[in-house]
Amino acid sequence: FDLKNANTLGLPAVASHFLPLTDPAQFIELCQHSGLKALPWRVLGGGSNLVLPEKINALVIAVALKGRRLLREDDEAWYVAAAGGENWHDFVTWTLAQGWAGLENLSLIPGTVGAAPVQNIGAYGVEVKDCLFELTAYRLEDGSARVFSAAECQFSYRDSCFKQAEAGKWLIGEVVFKLPKAVSIKTNYGDIGQELAALDLPPSASAVAQAVINVRQRKLPDPAVIGNAGSFFKNPIVAAELREQVLAAHPELVSYPAGPDHYKLAAGWLIERAGWKGRQLGPAGMYQKQALVLVNHGGATQNDIAKLTAAVQADVKEKFGVTLEAEPVWW
Ligand code: EPU
Repeated sequence: FDLKNANTLGLPAVASHFLPLTDPAQFIELCQHSGLKALPWRVLGGGSNLVLPEKINALVIAVALKGRRLLREDDEAWYVAAAGGENWHDFVTWTLAQGWAGLENLSLIPGTVGAAPVQNIGAYGVEVKDCLFELTAYRLEDGSARVFSAAECQFSYRDSCFKQAEAGKWLIGEVVFKLPKAVSIKTNYGDIGQELAALDLPPSASAVAQAVINVRQRKLPDPAVIGNAGSFFKNPIVAAELREQVLAAHPELVSYPAGPDHYKLAAGWLIERAGWKGRQLGPAGMYQKQALVLVNHGGATQNDIAKLTAAVQADVKEKFGVTLEAEPVWW
């Protein structure tokens, strides 16, 4: 089963076993299949945050669960459920069309609804955790269902229990969002306010979505045109002391306060200053317009990505003393 078109980096990858999952009931049956149980299982969403190896000896389950609906409402919010296989951006667009705000800053993020909580997707001052009420996941081991409250997901910056203690153990079947009735649009991040002003629309959640779409289309490469997985490194959170050291040598460093005595540094800035913006190593490189995005110029394999990752990490470490952590999941 060729997964080259199922991962946005466009890496060559062949899985020994593959199954699209369209019905949660099908999953329970699958869990009783002793032959398949002997294999490792991997859950595939939109493939937009994945670095795949060329050979995958596993059962790859592609989450194709569909459906979205209003569960209930109270004075405070709309509670909206979406199946794990729904396309994220289509879901966001649909909520806005219903008049439910909250997810507009997360417009145009590639991937699926079920994958969104795994790395707590975020953009322009909002993270999915801000609107996530709970989710239902199926345990790969036995197919049993469990509801995780938002607190149980242990969200933090580009992280959740599904990348930590619970990694590789669950398939996320449905996510419930709590979309507030008291709308407060967030336009203070980066270029968004400016873009919104340029649109000349009355401020609304839909206008913010349009501003976000415009900014993303300008800065981020379209995976259909050039293989990529969005930001490839996390913005590192460092002790105030280390930031001071970097600042002393580089007063133009871009950083933001991130909790007591800590700062988040702009990894794109560090990578650019380490000389990697637009630079290639073999068939992969760091994107010309956004140094934080790793791109496949054609023909790259997981090994090429690993080499480039290590080279960028080494140069940033040497120049700034800062450790960069790759953001995507590696199989
Ligand atoms: N910068 C540079 N050079 C570059 C890139 C960035 O100097 O080549 C500087 C920018 O000038 C800016 C700062 O770095 O001052 C931050 O850049 P930007 O606002 O573009 O955001 P980012 O930190 O690169 C993060 C997220 C993105 C998200 C944007 C907008 C991470 C790892 N990335 O990127 O998320 O869309 O903010 O909120 O947190 C993703 O996770 O895949 C992703 C695209």
